[in-house]
Amino acid sequence: MPDGARLDGVGVVVTAGGTREPIDPVRYLGNRSSGKMGGALAEAAVGMGAKVTLVTTVDPPAAPAAAGIVRVDTAEEMRAAVHASLAGAQVLVMAAAVADYQPAEPSVTKLKKRTGTWSLLLVPTVDILASLRDDPVREGVYVVGFAAETDDLIVNAKAKLRAKGLDLIVVNDVGRPGIGMGADDNEVTLVDASGVVKRIERSPKREVAGSIMRVVAQRLPR
Ligand code: CTP
Repeated sequence: MPDGARLDGVGVVVTAGGTREPIDPVRYLGNRSSGKMGGALAEAAVGMGAKVTLVTTVDPPAAPAAAGIVRVDTAEEMRAAVHASLAGAQVLVMAAAVADYQPAEPSVTKLKKRTGTWSLLLVPTVDILASLRDDPVREGVYVVGFAAETDDLIVNAKAKLRAKGLDLIVVNDVGRPGIGMGADDNEVTLVDASGVVKRIERSPKREVAGSIMRVVAQRLPR
């Protein structure tokens, strides 16, 4: 492997899975993210020599043995874990599908079934990437976001890149069957401030993860 594709000793934080926002002790609001993409990214980074921390909402099916695993459930727990893991890291890859809303007042006791309709009041969760934008802990960290989109993929991704102050964004077409959330394969486009950097054709998430991490490795200051 050429030097540019190694991450020896580089601190890499990867997030994986979908956050779970509690409604009561047995129910939560969640999403279809399986954590496979994040797990594959962690594995690829370990293979390239990085010191990896995987902040995940799911037990990774094949936990990369060399990675430090931090299990979380909610967006707020993920924010705290990412923040704590970033000290000394040079790369953050936010592959997790973070819920945008959480129940306003999770019940401490199990809610009982009643007749008729029921409304659940939701409040916004913390936007983890946006919260890091002006945080000193982000300084010197190469930050990669993911964009789950169904339309206007590149335009929407570029807007997210700017709004969240990212270095690179991995655009996922979540409207197509067989790729993206929950699937074994993915097909993504890497976008930075100047435009499309690379298109990665449909392939197993392991291979997609390797391609993404190689692009990241090449872009780190040496
Ligand atoms: N993200 C985050 N905190 C949130 C929501 C998302 O850090 N509360 C991160 C995701 O991990 C991802 C990127 O932001 O890397 C974009 O996530 P996405 O769900 O595509 O975008 P949103 O900001 O949630 O916008 P929208 O759902 O309106 O497309």
